[in-house]
Amino acid sequence: MAIFLGYFIWGADPGRAAGLAGVALRPAALAAALERAAPAPRRTAAAATRRAGNTRQAPGRHGEPAMSAATAAATIAVVSTTGGAGRSTLTAELASLLAWRKHDVLAVECDPRNVLGFHFGLRDIPSDGLGSSLHDGAAKAWAGTGLRSDDGVLFVPWGDRAESGAIERLPANWLARRLDQVDLRDGGAVLLDTAPWPSGYASQAIDAADLVLVLVPAQPETCLTLKRLVDDLAARGKTVRYVATRLHPARPLHVDIVAMLQAMLGTAMLPYHVHEDSSVPEALARSESFSRSTPHSQTAHDLNGLASWLSAWIETRAGGGGTP
Ligand SMILES: Nc1ncnc2c1ncn2[C@@H]1O[C@H](COP(=O)(O)OP(=O)(O)OP(=O)(O)O)[C@@H](O)[C@H]1O
Ligand SMILES: [Mg+2]
Repeated sequence: MAIFLGYFIWGADPGRAAGLAGVALRPAALAAALERAAPAPRRTAAAATRRAGNTRQAPGRHGEPAMSAATAAATIAVVSTTGGAGRSTLTAELASLLAWRKHDVLAVECDPRNVLGFHFGLRDIPSDGLGSSLHDGAAKAWAGTGLRSDDGVLFVPWGDRAESGAIERLPANWLARRLDQVDLRDGGAVLLDTAPWPSGYASQAIDAADLVLVLVPAQPETCLTLKRLVDDLAARGKTVRYVATRLHPARPLHVDIVAMLQAMLGTAMLPYHVHEDSSVPEALARSESFSRSTPHSQTAHDLNGLASWLSAWIETRAGGGGTP
């Protein structure tokens, strides 16, 4: 059964703009245009074509992605073993950068703290979201909770209705089954922001993922905790790439840690290290897209390199080249 993501216009409201303690926020470009779709279901020709066995599909009405029984979109889980690794930041930035590269993009929050929405300009935690469907066997409860950013990214928050700890009791493929209902155009991407691994949230995202992007911040904690995740992903047979984040090349410890990780991970470690840049949290505080507001910085360059690699990976996969 086809179900559909929605959008909703969120007006920028200066009176509600003090979302982060101690930080003066301005009305944000991203906050100005998150939209909710008309709830009326629209079955696209795409779903029928796909069910007939043809994986090329026409766009939905107005070129919008719809939800149907199958998806050719690449699902990418953004995970890490430590908090503050940059998962939410990279999920939001990569989603926007892929949308700018003409991919259909859906960003999904799989973290009950609901931080990802702030990266798209939300001021408050939405009550409904993916978590709303934890207790709903009909699997449709999250269909109307989709939002759209002004740069074209569809976003589904987690929401605040889910019972704490309930995700640990769900079958392993609960999220994968939800995402099977999403029908993006070929070359589409579903990006999953997660809570730190190990957790039910990260595990659900990994289970659903075609590609697991593991962020490895240049911190000793990464070295202490990564091996367990590497082994778990290998046991699950996942396609994995590792990205060094929050790198400060002037710090010898960071350089040593990245060299050690490269030796440990080999070619699975991507050459796109995301550098530490104080403009990243500043952009978040202003509810701006970092890559858009600081386009000439080293870190924006890093993120664009990573997005271009990811775009090529998605295209290769969508073109029938198998998992690159
Ligand atoms: N490359 C960077 N340079 C500087 N600050 C960064 C960078 N990446 C992320 N940050 C900042 O670090 C903080 C944590 O980032 P983020 O929320 O993206 O990480 P996370 O892995 O999702 O963390 P959490 O465990 O809290 O979910 C945020 O304030 C963010 O703005
Ligand atoms: Mg996060």
